[in-house]
Amino acid sequence: MGDFLTSADIEAAASAIKQKTSLKPRIGMILGSGLGSLAESIENPEYVPYGDIPGWPISGVKGHAGRLVFGTLEGQQVVVMQGRTHYYEGYDMPRLGLPVRAMQALGIEMIVITNAAGAVNPDFDPGDLMLITDHLNFIGMAGQNPLRGPNLEELGPRFPDMSQVYDRQLLALTREVAAAESVTLREGVYCCLAGPSFETPADLRFLRAVGVDAVGMSTVPEATIARHSGTRVLGISGISNKANLDGNTETTHEEVLEAGKVLAPKLTQVVRGVLRKL
Ligand code: HPA
Repeated sequence: MGDFLTSADIEAAASAIKQKTSLKPRIGMILGSGLGSLAESIENPEYVPYGDIPGWPISGVKGHAGRLVFGTLEGQQVVVMQGRTHYYEGYDMPRLGLPVRAMQALGIEMIVITNAAGAVNPDFDPGDLMLITDHLNFIGMAGQNPLRGPNLEELGPRFPDMSQVYDRQLLALTREVAAAESVTLREGVYCCLAGPSFETPADLRFLRAVGVDAVGMSTVPEATIARHSGTRVLGISGISNKANLDGNTETTHEEVLEAGKVLAPKLTQVVRGVLRKL
């Protein structure tokens, strides 16, 4: 695989997947750190390990299972990424885009992207779900955009619009579901940083000042690729920790995974509700 994704790279990944399953899901999902258990509720699952897909970026991060799960959830055919790979693991941004590109090649029209995030908004608590209404593409502004390189015209325009990354109808639907199920749903702006180090208190005060509500190390590149090709996006953060704006508390990956145990059932409940209404 070269510096940038080609149609042949995407085709090779998609055809390797098609050899393992004949299911044709309309909906893709990406499950973030500690949130992989949503995939356990999929009916008649068929698994494709990431290692069986040529070019697929492999994650070694704890809390990420590393496989695609195909099957049915609330009557909808889905393909779920149980675990994702992050920029900080060392892959180039274009290669990190392969999973979303492959799911698009399989025919998904919509994607649910989830992550674990630190709360920059002081009103948010660990265990809260946050609907992503917009994002700050900090990593992209700094030059790491997955669409960098020759544009694949058949997939989308050179300069894709990002005025409404998170689908308004899906936002409205998710609010309705959360209210009906009595799940507290926060809303806000998610910011993607490169990681892997967590933020300093000065980083966090900066992010707060520019209007960030939650911070993490994923989602934005995937959402950008999705929108490039017109795939509808629903983004949900699971707040795993309060960001440490005052420098008095430490942030650890263990607390992120621990919070996932509280978050995963709520996330499952909300996502199931949304799928039911589609
Ligand atoms: N910062 C960045 N990424 C994260 C955090 C955080 O506090 N929590 C979970 N992912």
